[in-house]
Amino acid sequence: MKMEEQKVIFLKGRKSVLRPLNKETDLQSCLRWINDQDVIQYVSAYLPSSTQDEEEWFNNLQKRKEDIVLGIETLVGEFIGVTGLHNINWKDRTASHGVIVGEKKYWGRGYGTDANMVLLDYAFNTLNLRRIYSSVIAFNERSLQYHLTCGYQIEGVQRKQAYKKGKYWDVIFLGVFEEEWLLASGEYQKK
Ligand SMILES: CC(C)(COP(=O)(O)OP(=O)(O)OC[C@H]1O[C@@H](n2cnc3c(N)ncnc32)[C@H](O)[C@@H]1OP(=O)(O)O)[C@@H](O)C(=O)NCCC(=O)NCCS
Repeated sequence: MKMEEQKVIFLKGRKSVLRPLNKETDLQSCLRWINDQDVIQYVSAYLPSSTQDEEEWFNNLQKRKEDIVLGIETLVGEFIGVTGLHNINWKDRTASHGVIVGEKKYWGRGYGTDANMVLLDYAFNTLNLRRIYSSVIAFNERSLQYHLTCGYQIEGVQRKQAYKKGKYWDVIFLGVFEEEWLLASGEYQKK
C-alpha cells in the first residue's frame, strides 16, 4: 500500500490537507508553536503553556461541540499548523475562525490561504454556516491580507484594544459570507 493511501485526509486543497489532530503525533509541535513568541505575538495567547496544559487542550477537543479544529499538512504530510471554526452558533449559523501556521518557514507561501479556502467551503457547503468572522491585530499585515484574499470584509475596528510589544494596537474585525468567499475562491482558482 502506498503512503498516500494510509494518510488521514479530511479536506484537501491545492497545496494543503486538513485532518483531525492526533494527540500522540501532534502535541509536541503544538506545544512548540504556542510557546514561540514569533508565533503568539499574533494571537491572544501570552502565558507559557506546559505539556499538561497542551494535553488538557487536546483532551477537551472532542468534548467541545461548538469548535471544529483541524491540523494543516502539506501534501507530503508535514504538519505545519492548526486551523478551526469556533463558537459555532447553530441558530444564527455563525462561527469564528482561528488559525496558526506554526512552522515559520511556511509563512507567506500560500498554505494558509489554501487551507482557509477549503475550510470555508466546508463551513458553507457542509455545515451550512452563513457567516464566519475573525479578528486581526493591526500589525499582522499578513493575516489581514490572508483574510481579504479569502473574501473577508473589514467590519470594524476596536481602537487601541490589544496590548502587545509594549503598545496598544487596534484590532480589526472581519467577516465573510458565502457569496464573498465564492468570488474570492473563483479568483484563487484562476491563479
Ligand atoms: C496568518 C497566516 C495564517 C497566513 O498564512 P500564510 O500561509 O502565511 O499566508 P499566505 O502565504 O497564504 O499569504 C496570504 C496573503 O498575505 C500576503 N503576505 C504574505 N506575507 C506577507 C507579509 N509579510 N505582509 C503582508 N502580506 C503578506 C500574501 O501575498 C497573500 O496575499 P495575496 O493572496 O494577495 O498574494 C500565517 O502566516 C500564520 O498563521 N501566522 C502566524 C499566526 C497568525 O498570525 N495567526 C492569525 C491570527 S489572526
